Amino acid sequence: MTARLIDGNALAQAIRAEVAGRTQALKARGIQPRLAILLVGEDPASQVYTKHKVADSTATGLQATLETFPADLSEAALLARIRQLNADASVHGILVQLPLPRHLDASKVIETIDPAKDVDGFHVASAGALVTGQPGFWPCTPYGCMKMLESIGYDLRGKHAVVIGRSNIVGKPMALMLLQRSATVTICHSATTDLAAHTRQADVVVAAVGKRNVLTADMVKPGAVVIDVGMNRNEQGKLCGDVDFEGVSAVAGWITPVPGGVGPMTRAMLLVNTLEAAERAAGA
Ligand code: GUN
Repeated sequence: MTARLIDGNALAQAIRAEVAGRTQALKARGIQPRLAILLVGEDPASQVYTKHKVADSTATGLQATLETFPADLSEAALLARIRQLNADASVHGILVQLPLPRHLDASKVIETIDPAKDVDGFHVASAGALVTGQPGFWPCTPYGCMKMLESIGYDLRGKHAVVIGRSNIVGKPMALMLLQRSATVTICHSATTDLAAHTRQADVVVAAVGKRNVLTADMVKPGAVVIDVGMNRNEQGKLCGDVDFEGVSAVAGWITPVPGGVGPMTRAMLLVNTLEAAERAAGA
């Protein structure tokens, strides 16, 4: 079997077009959706990511402001700024770029964000909403993965989904989203014995470990859907995921590439969440 590609670039483009249309509709009512991005310190990767977030927002008609702070910013000052943004009705989404410098307590910082503006979906209230099936913001990466499954018309009901990785940002929320769509879900992680025994049973595998070749062809059931959340570099410095793409493509039914798979979807879902925050604030 040669797997069909789930094209994250094309899907993200379609989602951005939809966001742009809904943004225009809000603007016609006098509401400008606005995202405030806070970056502390000078981590080069974070500088690139936040620049992308601003550019994506602007290109879609959303307004994004990037506030940068020195690495030695006090926690009190950061929390005070977040509280100001919470109180500012013209701001619909607040995103504090991670990682934060070590002297700042990331949990405390995230819990200070108003859950109604938590477009990253990292607040405990957002996590709780996902667990209980209440409306709230879903973390962008697993949300994007769900959109990819939706885009191929995949019915998760009764299917066995295996998530590799148990992070708060990807693995755990991914498992809950799959469960919400009535999949039978297994979460595998670094202490799992015989990972392959689990993945070979899976109709859907989501690999979110951050390590190359975590999933190889011999570990995949023929026809399975394989979603690769990984972002790694090989010896040649080329971007690659957690999945051995070449090998697994020969076995899987569907596969997401890296680059051009989950990455662009993560970026697109931040725009969706920001727009939705504005729509909810407007009572739309
Ligand atoms: N750092 C890397 N990815 C992310 C993300 O999605 N949100 C935030 N806030 N920080 C990040």
